[in-house]
Amino acid sequence: MAYLLAIESSCDDTSVAILWEDKILSNIVITQTDHVAYGGVVPEVASRQHHINISIAIEKALKEARVSKKDLNAIAVTQGPGLLGSLLVGVSFAKGLALALGLPLIGVHHMHAHILAHFIDDPKPEFPFICLTVSGGHTQLVMVKDPLNMEVLGQTIDDAAGEAFDKAGKMLGLPYPAGPIIDKLTKDGDPKFPFSIAQIPGYDFSFSGFKTSVLYFLQKELDKNPEFINENLHDICASVQHTIIKTLEKKLLKVLKDTGIKSVAIAGGVAANSGLRKRLEELSQKYNFKVFIPQLQYCTDNAAMIGIAAYFKYKAQIFEEQDLVPDPRMPF
Ligand code: KG4
Ligand code: ZN
Repeated sequence: MAYLLAIESSCDDTSVAILWEDKILSNIVITQTDHVAYGGVVPEVASRQHHINISIAIEKALKEARVSKKDLNAIAVTQGPGLLGSLLVGVSFAKGLALALGLPLIGVHHMHAHILAHFIDDPKPEFPFICLTVSGGHTQLVMVKDPLNMEVLGQTIDDAAGEAFDKAGKMLGLPYPAGPIIDKLTKDGDPKFPFSIAQIPGYDFSFSGFKTSVLYFLQKELDKNPEFINENLHDICASVQHTIIKTLEKKLLKVLKDTGIKSVAIAGGVAANSGLRKRLEELSQKYNFKVFIPQLQYCTDNAAMIGIAAYFKYKAQIFEEQDLVPDPRMPF
């Protein structure tokens, strides 16, 4: 039986969680707001902010969980993929803590953790299941055989789904990250503008054609009416969201048909999208599969998911040495 402390610092959120076995006792997320002005995450700014936030997040997480450092049994940290400078802050801190407290160190793959976030709450998916992981950096269809055995069946060949939301939002003059704002604006909109859906073979995704079609469409309409975006913002957002969801849905249904698997989980920041959640519920009725959607707080980057992934590694006694280094392009 073990208390775990988990650290996530792969992008722009500094997060620390404390777990008792697979139970989350605290999950502190400090979101960096300095990037808004730049329209995207600035790596140097992110690592400096992690540096400031990490000890605050650790103290808060321990306090909220009512756990003292000496009660801990292992330290877990995101090893990659992510921004090198950001990962470096988390990994260095984790190594320091493990060394000082004489504890084992656990390295976690950020994308595995997004998937294993489904094992935080009930109901938990049964193996094997298909996970559609959709974040700001990744879009993947993964066959999950068990917590330590997963296989990528398809992934994006260019932009990620979250990036497609964010880049479309930037063209509309929305602040970063635009995904949640587009989601909100879509509620009063009609998806009446046809943007392009990629036609690529297999289970891979592509969003570059979609991005170009939004850009050309806006340029053409703005030439005719400079107020076009203001006058049609809700409908444009609804069309952007509709097209991204359609692109994801097409490949997901293909995998389900080919593998015969009847359980689907969604993970990553874009899993917070209300349109995607609703559409998956509809499809699950129509095609008779079970769908697992994590709580919103476990969809976007958080340390609770790093902790749950580490819990499985702890049980299997998979530990790292002090030579652990962050891996920005960590293989799946
Ligand atoms: O997983 P995540 O927190 O960070 C990583 O990329 O690892 O995902 C962030 C992404 C951003 O692109 C953001 O715009 C998108 O998730 N996102 C959403 C929503 N909430 C977050 N996209 C669409 N609808 C949302 N409600
Ligand atoms: Zn993520």
